[in-house]
Amino acid sequence: MASEELQKAREYEEREGELVSESLRPVYHFTARVGWMNDPNGLSWYGGKYHLFYQYHPYDALWGPMHWGHAVSQDMVHWEYLPCALAPDSPYDDKGCFSGSAITMPDGRHMLMYTGCSEDKADERGRWKQVQCLAFGNGTDYEKYEGNPIISEKDLPQGGSIHEFRDPFIFSNGAGRYRAVAANANKDNDGVTQICLYKSDDGLHWRRESILFEDTGKVGIMWECPNFFDIGNDYVLMASPMDMEEEKADGSIRFPKGNNVCYMIGDFDDEKGTFTPRMTKVGQPSYHPVDSGLDFYAPQVMRAPDGRVIMIGWMQDPENGLKHDAKLQIFGQMTCPRELFIKQNRLCQRPVRELAALRDNKVEYNNTILYNGEAKFPGVEGRSVELFIRISPDDNEEVSTEDGISYDDFTLRFAEDDKHYTEFSFDPHNSIVAIDRNHSVDDLDITGSRTMRVRDRHGMISLRILIDKWSAEIFINEGEQVISTTYYTDPEAKDISFIASGKAKMNLKMYTLKR
Ligand code: FRU
Repeated sequence: MASEELQKAREYEEREGELVSESLRPVYHFTARVGWMNDPNGLSWYGGKYHLFYQYHPYDALWGPMHWGHAVSQDMVHWEYLPCALAPDSPYDDKGCFSGSAITMPDGRHMLMYTGCSEDKADERGRWKQVQCLAFGNGTDYEKYEGNPIISEKDLPQGGSIHEFRDPFIFSNGAGRYRAVAANANKDNDGVTQICLYKSDDGLHWRRESILFEDTGKVGIMWECPNFFDIGNDYVLMASPMDMEEEKADGSIRFPKGNNVCYMIGDFDDEKGTFTPRMTKVGQPSYHPVDSGLDFYAPQVMRAPDGRVIMIGWMQDPENGLKHDAKLQIFGQMTCPRELFIKQNRLCQRPVRELAALRDNKVEYNNTILYNGEAKFPGVEGRSVELFIRISPDDNEEVSTEDGISYDDFTLRFAEDDKHYTEFSFDPHNSIVAIDRNHSVDDLDITGSRTMRVRDRHGMISLRILIDKWSAEIFINEGEQVISTTYYTDPEAKDISFIASGKAKMNLKMYTLKR
């Protein structure tokens, strides 16, 4: 039986969701049924469908008491909304049902594992208690487990804080044996954050197994939303560290100041429950950005039935996600689902192949020379398109530069009209790329640009770019790096232009994407 709180949310979203005009939604990126959305949750394959739940505040476009919204899909591209799955209606979660994950139980039920937040009456600062809880369902309706919470204060590591203890990610690597990782920060707020590993034989009774990873304040203050999964022989620990200091490397920004997402590749000892990340030359865990854009946070990973490891992220910097009008009908979008793979010890990404079904209308220009200035190409425009661009030096050109590269800069402008554009640029001599949306945002407090280094390929770069009304996802060099960014300009600003200084050769293919 749905509680009053859940019933209220379901009625509200059914009524108000109808009123959200399709024109307010991107063409192929997922948005909330109505209201506010943040992290993807419970990403899973269940009952012959992909399930995507999400952190959800249906009643306005700002973060509020968290519910779990719900949608299903056959192909991860077309989603159908289902009724809200969880509402903050129980004593242990009445301040919010925070992020979590999902798994199928041997008896066929779908199990959600999430963080319940409630007021900590013993705390003089009035902070919220965070405990881990379960709900069981049939793919549409979910009942909270009567034994909740199943992981609480007594299961914390020594020094751990019950106020910063969240985002359980459940997985199973063997019949009837479950594990979950959850994020925790130290009581003393001294920057120590731990990814705790828990173990269970039945999914209901849990015990702490180990500290899978600990950061002692070098990388942010709290590693939220952990994911732990294998790809081939490697294990990957991915998490979203809050409040990082800027990290520069080789003349560009490796991690900007603020909230980021990082991953480490390493080995997992299944017996001991320990993770050994690969180390840098100076003996530090080797961690890398998952996405080097301006809007990407709290991703979640699942395994598709065909074995692919799929990731969806919240395409929003949490810092900048609070500066819009609460009265908007919807706010927040997910990234396109991405397939993860490992190449040369790095996590790489590509859009799921199912996305190709949306392709319409192809335009192609091969071996075009861009020469000192701006070029536009007939048919190359739009705010819902997929671009394949390959830039290389013009080999027929005598060049006097030391590295023999015939151009100094390549710039792509998109979502462009006479006032607005977002810009991606590439400096081939130094292998540095930049994203700049300063001409698309009015609010100067919103981070407008950043640079990053890419692998040196002698002046060559390949790009696959997904543009969808208010966002761009740029996959660089076959997904070695990705840049995601949003920009909320009028979708009529849809020009695309190509600028070079010097001579660059370009191969270009563009598809319009249609739902
Ligand atoms: C990340 C996060 C999670 C938390 C949720 C609350 O964006 O802060 O740690 O569970 O959002 O909405």
